[in-house]
Parts: sequence; C-alpha cells; structure tokens
Amino acid sequence: MVEVKNWQLGRNMEYPYDENRPKKQWAIVFDLNKCIACQTCSLACKTTWTSGKGQEYMFWNNVETKPYGSYPLAWDVNVLEKLGHQHWDEKGKKYLGKTIFEGAEPTERAVHFAPQDEDWMYPNVGEDDCTGNVKYGTHIDINKQHDEWMFYLPRTCAHCTYPACLASCPRKAIYKRPEDGIVLIDQSRCKGYGECVKACPYKKSMYNSHTRVSEKCVGCYPAVEEGKQPMCVQNCIGKIRIMGFINPPWPGKVRKDNPVDYLVHEKKLALPYYPQLGLEPNIYYIPPIHASIDYLVQMFGPRVEETIENYKKLSKDPVAQGLLVLMGATDRIIHKFDVRGGIAYAYDEKGNEIVNVPVTEPVIERDSYDSKLGSIRVNN
Ligand code: SF4
Ligand code: SF4
Ligand code: F3S
Repeated sequence: MVEVKNWQLGRNMEYPYDENRPKKQWAIVFDLNKCIACQTCSLACKTTWTSGKGQEYMFWNNVETKPYGSYPLAWDVNVLEKLGHQHWDEKGKKYLGKTIFEGAEPTERAVHFAPQDEDWMYPNVGEDDCTGNVKYGTHIDINKQHDEWMFYLPRTCAHCTYPACLASCPRKAIYKRPEDGIVLIDQSRCKGYGECVKACPYKKSMYNSHTRVSEKCVGCYPAVEEGKQPMCVQNCIGKIRIMGFINPPWPGKVRKDNPVDYLVHEKKLALPYYPQLGLEPNIYYIPPIHASIDYLVQMFGPRVEETIENYKKLSKDPVAQGLLVLMGATDRIIHKFDVRGGIAYAYDEKGNEIVNVPVTEPVIERDSYDSKLGSIRVNN
C-alpha cells in the first residue's frame, strides 16, 4: 500500500497503487430534489449497452428509493456494516475512520462482500416505499421536521479516482483512462475472477454468467469522445443531471466557470456519496432537502446540512439558477458556462456557444380572441 491524497476525506489514505490522476476526470452531478424515478435513464442505458445474453438483470444505471430500495439487495447496508464505525472530526472536515482499503483483511485489497445471484434479481425492490404513513385527511408540513420521507437515488459507476475494482483485479484487466478518468474492464484480459464485483462497494462491476467476464458502466466513452454527454444524462426526463469534468480542489485548479467545479467546489451544492469508503467517487449529489438528516449525514458526510442550506438560498442566486436550467438543455458536454442578462449560456471545449436558455421561463398571457387569426382560444 502507498499513501495517496483523497480530498473528499480531508487526509491522505492507503491505496495499492500510486496516485495517478487523469488529465480530465469524468463526473456527473445529480439534483436529487428533482428525480422522479421514471427510470428513463436506466432504460436508455439498458437499450444502449446491456440488452444481450447474460445481461438480463444488469443495470449499469439504476434508480433506487431510499432508504428501503437497493440494487443489488442491501449493497449499502452490507458494506457499511462490514466497514464498521465511521466517524469524522468535530468540524466535519477530516474522516477519522478507516476506508475500505485500510479496513481490508491482509489477504484482500479492499473490504469485500459478494452479493448472491438472487440479490441482483429485484432492481425495483422497495420502490416508492416511504418511512411512514401520512394519515388520511392530513398533509406533511414541509417547513417542519417530519418522519415521512423517501427519495430517489440514481446511480452509475462513479469512475472513482481510486477504484476498488481496479485495485483488486489479479489480472490487471481494469484500467483508468488518462484522458478522461473513465474506468474500463478490458474484456479480452478479464478471466471472470470476480474480485472486482466483491471489492466495488457500490456494486457497479457485474458478472456476466453467459460470457463469463465482468462488465460495468463504460461512462458512454464513445459519446464523451465526441463531446457528448452519456445516454443516461441525455435522456433524463427530469433534467436532474449534468455530466462534465471535475478538478481536484487544489490551489489554482478549480474553475468557477466549469459547471461541475461550480456545483461541487465553488457553491458547495453537491457532495459525493459515501466518501468515507475512500474511493473518491466522481458522481455527486445535490442532497434532498426533506429527508432525515442522520441518514443523509451517513450517506453524504457531515457537510450535508451546509449543502442543504446553500440549496435553499438558490432563489437569490441567478448564476446558480442559470446553471441548473442548463441541466438537460443540451446533449453536448458543457465545459464552460456564463449567466448574464437573465440568460444562461453554455460553451464547448473550444469556447463555442452550444445553447442558451432563459433563467426564468417567460409567462405570456394571451387574449382569448386572436384578431390576427380570427380565432378564439379556449384555455381551460
Ligand atoms: Fe470501480 Fe465500483 Fe468505482 Fe465503478 S464505482 S470505478 S466499478 S470501484
Ligand atoms: Fe449507462 Fe452510459 Fe450512463 Fe454508464 S454513462 S450508466 S454506460 S448510459
Ligand atoms: Fe479481474 Fe474482475 Fe475480470 S477481478 S479478471 S476484471 S472479473
């Protein structure tokens, strides 16, 4: 093991290989306040990549209802339980517990567990299950803490900076691309040993019993190479996602006009999930504002309350609002954005404008009688 820098933990940690950050790091930000669990992302991915034999139960992108849903079954409960006590310093800036690499048995590269075959068979288990019932004739007062909550959590591979799948493969069949940080399994090298499936705590490496090799989300690299966002992002009905590239928060690296840097580092609106596991995952979430804080702290770390407060102030922030309306406004990767005069502009890598959108949708009231067309509109 060598010592590497993990900014999500606020400290160095142990990892089997040297720190080797890519030139650019693929990342997605999801706004969990907007996800409607329509599963369009799951199906967009499935029809693109996993409609073959042995892939029947394979969802590289899935959406589960928290706290009761999970795919594969109880993946999160299992990994959290195996890792043991997880705690942060008083200021919530430094993780003091062990990561899955530091807590591993001497014979393992990371804390392991293997789901059973049947655990992959119910991708929608727990969907829409809420933590409590709302009594007939009453309603939830969203301004007060309440016990009834649930939220939808869309998940893809996190193309981790320190992938546990890569660390654990005895065949060295998994690699991280230097140009964009996408983590891939070399299908010709893989012999189906399954160590990656056991080691990935997010359970995003999946074994194909027909081809007898493992497979995982490929970050839609063919689209990314053409400057386009992945299929799960392009097809998102709720417009809750944006894919781009994130920089580590070292001095001089963060760019305020980069959408992902802005949401994660500059405005502190989005957080990685289960950062305590130590992989520096590169999917980031704007947390739901109505769920149990204890649950959210466990999932997103101690900065989650601050992040929710920042989100609640957005109505006074036209720049952040502008970026949120650019989510889902284009199929292309936004490298730079700008908001001026009530319009949000998006630019590609070369600085060419891709799209512009009004920050506030205009409201147009029309007379019921249109004298130009000589027709009457009925608005009810
Ligand atoms: Fe590997 Fe899992 Fe990280 Fe994806 S989420 S890069 S499969 S460890
Ligand atoms: Fe599927 Fe592509 Fe999204 Fe990965 S990035 S989950 S391969 S659609
Ligand atoms: Fe390696 Fe996983 Fe294949 S451990 S050999 S990539 S199944």
